[in-house]
Amino acid sequence: MNKSWGGRFTKGTDKRVEDFTESISFDRELYRQDICGSLAHAEMLAGAGLISRAECARIRKGLSGILADIENGKFKFRRELEDVHMNIEAELTNRIGDAGKRLHTARSRNDQVALDLRLWTAAQAEGAIELLRALQSALVRRAGEQRDAICPGFTHMQPAQPVLLAHQLLAYVEMLDRDAARFGECRKRCLVSPLGACALAGTSLPTDPQDTAKRLALDAVFDNSIDAVSDRDFAIEFAFDAALCAMHLSRLSEEWILWCSPIFGFIELDDAFCTGSSIMPQKKNPDVLELIRGKTARVYGDLMSLLVLMKGLPLAYNRDMQEDKPPLFDSASTLRACLSVLEPLVMSAEFKAERMLDAASAGYPDATILAEYLVEKGVPFREAHGIVGRAVALCVKSGRPRLSQMSIGELRELSGRFDAGVLKRLGPAGCAKAYKSRGSSGRREVERQLGKWGKKLGIAKIV
Ligand code: ARG
Repeated sequence: MNKSWGGRFTKGTDKRVEDFTESISFDRELYRQDICGSLAHAEMLAGAGLISRAECARIRKGLSGILADIENGKFKFRRELEDVHMNIEAELTNRIGDAGKRLHTARSRNDQVALDLRLWTAAQAEGAIELLRALQSALVRRAGEQRDAICPGFTHMQPAQPVLLAHQLLAYVEMLDRDAARFGECRKRCLVSPLGACALAGTSLPTDPQDTAKRLALDAVFDNSIDAVSDRDFAIEFAFDAALCAMHLSRLSEEWILWCSPIFGFIELDDAFCTGSSIMPQKKNPDVLELIRGKTARVYGDLMSLLVLMKGLPLAYNRDMQEDKPPLFDSASTLRACLSVLEPLVMSAEFKAERMLDAASAGYPDATILAEYLVEKGVPFREAHGIVGRAVALCVKSGRPRLSQMSIGELRELSGRFDAGVLKRLGPAGCAKAYKSRGSSGRREVERQLGKWGKKLGIAKIV
């Protein structure tokens, strides 16, 4: 078959080379963006007098027909035509004749693929933001329902201080908000048109890259044609944003995997979001959460592939860059899958408030609040730390699992500053009542956070 670039060749391409170099098996994903770009390019060419209005109209009609056929599954992509760009262009010429041959005027596949990828990545970033908002909303709703629940807060995976469950859930909402902001920034950087850079040097023809950009509703146009065709920063940035977001999802998953183990028993996942064991009849496994944790590794791999792919490339376009698509596509679809399944899992999980409260009294997690009580009574913090440390040691030695099991007399032996009011500060509820500082686990601060998110996410009523 005659290649569109075959003029200087004396032989056809070896079949093995065709198979090796093709990208249509994966870059067909870009058909919509490719057609949008071609429509804008054709209009610009007509405006510049490089093609006639009639030719432009034929191109428009031809491309619309191709788009419809692809969407209906009627289009036959051909491997020997290499990639999505040449498949569509060849079919256009097939359908409308000579006008189709003029479409590639003042354009290269190098600026064409850069444009397609930018439009595609911008759309994916938008999609990710939407899914992030849904997951944030789920967490905020669950936090709103759990206003009274207190759970252990951990550091080093050891009981640290009791916290409100809502506070813990809202910590993830903060992370996801930064993720959404990052995708928003990435999207902005995608929306710069590289179309008109041609192969790398621009063109001698009277083109108007600003015009194509405007037609594509892009915010800006390239300033340097060499950079425009060789830049894949936006794709790497997307993969990084996806990797960081997946890391957050993985941390939540890890936590909930622990929490739903009967050893913790803090949550019960819905049956519809768990799977069983082929041998152990009692098992109910959190496979969804485990796979989110596992798929995070894939998303990291995608980011690493892109970084390594680009690190050795001299300017400008190099064919290596065709390999940017599988990891970029994979990072987007994997993240999408994780976000989509996590939202209903979060909505359907059952929190075991009693069990959490019970666990929130283990390991003397009220010790810090007790030390702060002494500080309020005028004891220097380092001394207060020592006094409470001795109280803990006494409890451990005498087999008492809670500081509240000490008598006032015993406490007063350790420090004369203790009085009967101290009992109100002890236990998970005493601590939760005591927290006052900005962003703390105190009721008022958690209410403020819930209010902030309710407003930001447009949740009319938080239970
Ligand atoms: N399929 C190629 C890619 O994805 C399109 C650009 C090819 N350009 C070229 N001059 N061979 O990168």
